[in-house]
Amino acid sequence: MAKIGLFYGTDTGNTEDVAQRIKSMLDDIEPGIAALHDMSRATPADLAQYDCLILGIPTANIGQLQTDWDMFWPHLDKIDFSGKKAALFGLGDQYAYGNTFMDALGMLAYKIQERGGELVGAWPAADYNFDGSVALDGDHFLGLSLDQENQADLTQSRLEVWLPQVLAAFGIQTGVAVA
Ligand SMILES: Cc1cc2nc3c(=O)[nH]c(=O)nc-3n(C[C@H](O)[C@H](O)[C@H](O)COP(=O)(O)O)c2cc1C
Repeated sequence: MAKIGLFYGTDTGNTEDVAQRIKSMLDDIEPGIAALHDMSRATPADLAQYDCLILGIPTANIGQLQTDWDMFWPHLDKIDFSGKKAALFGLGDQYAYGNTFMDALGMLAYKIQERGGELVGAWPAADYNFDGSVALDGDHFLGLSLDQENQADLTQSRLEVWLPQVLAAFGIQTGVAVA
């Protein structure tokens, strides 16, 4: 079985694109290390089988959960996340939605913690322009924040820094240097 469960929900495809990019980067490190799951078809058992999770969520409808994560939300209360590590990545638009930037990432992060899970992969908030975010914890976001509308050119380099950090936090040895 794959060591990492990589789950994403998407409304307009951006989060799916990033999830597929992450899957491909992980396959380059170790083929088959991660299995990709679309939240529109995921079951609680799918999530529960992994100790290492990478979860992708865009913020929708001004500070709301993406549709498939919203539908799945009640199931999260039935999953015991203790002993599990979760790295979150969020998609958002910091200029159009600067007061609710990455809110869904924050909502998911707090839900995972509430259910006993350990968050890994916090990301510095310095290189973004926004006014408010549920995902902000001090000077870090509770996961990797990606903005395909305004900072698409930074996505790949952010992933290249973040992923090795996440794998190290998962305790997975890869031989890839951690920045
Ligand atoms: C109606 C609407 C509301 C949005 N609300 C927010 C928001 O509150 N916060 C945010 O950071 N991004 C917001 N966004 C931006 C999306 O999160 C962003 O476009 C993201 O890349 C979409 O991901 P997806 O293609 O996987 O659905 C909104 C986008 C739309 C169209």
